[in-house]
Amino acid sequence: MKIAIMGAMREEIDPILESVGTYQTLEHAGNVFYTCTYKNHELVIAYSKIGKVFSAITASVMLERFGAEVLLFSGVAGGISKELKIGDLIMASALCQHDVDIVAFGHPYGFIPEGTLMIESDANLRSLASEVAIDMGVDLYEGIIATGDQFVASGERKSWIQQTFNADALEMEGASVACVCQNFGIPFFVLRAISDTADGGASDDFDAFLKTSAAESAKFILEMVKRIGD
Ligand code: ADE
Repeated sequence: MKIAIMGAMREEIDPILESVGTYQTLEHAGNVFYTCTYKNHELVIAYSKIGKVFSAITASVMLERFGAEVLLFSGVAGGISKELKIGDLIMASALCQHDVDIVAFGHPYGFIPEGTLMIESDANLRSLASEVAIDMGVDLYEGIIATGDQFVASGERKSWIQQTFNADALEMEGASVACVCQNFGIPFFVLRAISDTADGGASDDFDAFLKTSAAESAKFILEMVKRIGD
């Protein structure tokens, strides 16, 4: 199967590239795409750069140019739910855009006409992930991930996102990638490891835990890849 694996930052895909052996590189549309064969799958791997626009470009290219049949996102997130501690893994059940605001026209926050407020991730990939978590002996949290073009480092903004969207974690790319996959009809999965708790200390925690949390997420994603199509 052709599988796309993407992150937003180099640190999020480096642990994957280090594990797949040899790969080819191709530059296109402002990204470097790494391709290889791994466990009988054809992989295309890339980091998009931060945010909804760059991640939508990368996801679109992976599907259109590389013909990916499934997309897995690996990276870090700010935790909202009190149950989530730094290093914990959360898979998105559904994703939304917390910074979409056309409330002036009577729409709820996060809603764009002809779109959906929440985009659900693929149920088969989520059940595969639950099996992988049991076998790896790791706790895997499932919940709503809210995406926006903001690094959230304020208790007030975090609470607003929690109350408005019932979100458990937040980040800057998941919902835009979900939107691309939904529109192309491609199954997708978003996994994040918590790097910070999106409040006053978020930027320091992010810097301190980006690499270790990204590595946890990457390790889990590679275990999933080994079992896709079994
Ligand atoms: N990704 C990781 N932590 C984040 C935060 N606090 N805000 C937005 N994206 C994040």
